[in-house]
Amino acid sequence: MSTTFSGASSDTLELLLDFCAAHPVPDIDAQRFLTRLNSGPDAIIDWRDRGVVAVLLDAVKGASEAIPLEIVGLVPHALNVEVARELLDEVAERTKKLGCPATELALSEIWAPHAGLAIERGYCRAYADLDMVCHDPNWGDAAKLPTGWSWHDVQPVWVDEYIRVLGAAFAGIAGTFLPSPAEIRRYLADPAIQARALVADGRALAVLRMTPARRYIHAIARDPAWRGAGLGRLAMDEARSCLLATAPWQGSLELTVVDTNAAAMELYRRCGFIVNREMTVLNRTLHPAG
Ligand SMILES: CC(C)(COP(=O)(O)OP(=O)(O)OC[C@H]1O[C@@H](n2cnc3c(N)ncnc32)[C@H](O)[C@@H]1OP(=O)(O)O)[C@@H](O)C(=O)NCCC(=O)NCCS
Repeated sequence: MSTTFSGASSDTLELLLDFCAAHPVPDIDAQRFLTRLNSGPDAIIDWRDRGVVAVLLDAVKGASEAIPLEIVGLVPHALNVEVARELLDEVAERTKKLGCPATELALSEIWAPHAGLAIERGYCRAYADLDMVCHDPNWGDAAKLPTGWSWHDVQPVWVDEYIRVLGAAFAGIAGTFLPSPAEIRRYLADPAIQARALVADGRALAVLRMTPARRYIHAIARDPAWRGAGLGRLAMDEARSCLLATAPWQGSLELTVVDTNAAAMELYRRCGFIVNREMTVLNRTLHPAG
């Protein structure tokens, strides 16, 4: 078994993974969060005896430097008021120990009943994650690509360019988190993922990542040097032609966006996306003592 995290025995990790498999949290990839998106044991709150395993995702780079907290394994009803309060206190301690200035807490179904408690503990609204859907992707014909521009699968030769554009485009955008280059390489190799790059003169101008089986767009990004040039629309046209087989286009497309990302929201609205679900994300900044 090759899954390890630094400084802890692989036996402990196996036990944590077994617990999370037995008590899964919807939409949470416990294996990925436990093994790849944290720096080691200080980021993992192992409260299996209280029915909870939580992780501070300190190995992803966010615009605000706040590290997201995720519960990755949970016995039903284990997160009562008392456990939630103590967990938030533990999170504050761990965040300090990890040398991070702030924590983010998404008010998922698990945390929503404890929103008041989190606010009492100093959390404030930071932004909301919006799940958007487009039921009628007939936003017009695909715009014509300028001569010399073409879309390519992100095969190994384009991976460095993909990482460059993604990093440059997302820098400073609240609520977006960039995994390490190694983690990006790993998910690009996942056969469930399709990634495309818009290329001209050996450089990527824009990139796109999707899960075709779910008709889900994970990320679109254009090189900031091309801001305001309409590359977002070209990426949406490409996503539509990858995810839906034929025109006239039929079927729904989905994506998630942060409500503070005005440029992306405007693009999606123009393509007919509407908000399906909204999840508020809170942020707590830790003020150094003294
Ligand atoms: C989302 C995105 C692909 C949209 O691309 P686009 O539709 O081609 O639009 P652009 O962002 O290039 O430009 C649209 C407008 O927003 C403005 N804009 C873009 N980013 C801005 C910012 N950070 N602050 C202020 N204005 C911004 C542009 O100047 C432009 O204004 P104009 O219409 O007056 O010329 C692109 O904004 C992007 O790559 N953003 C970073 C990555 C991202 O957020 N991806 C989506 C995550 S779900």
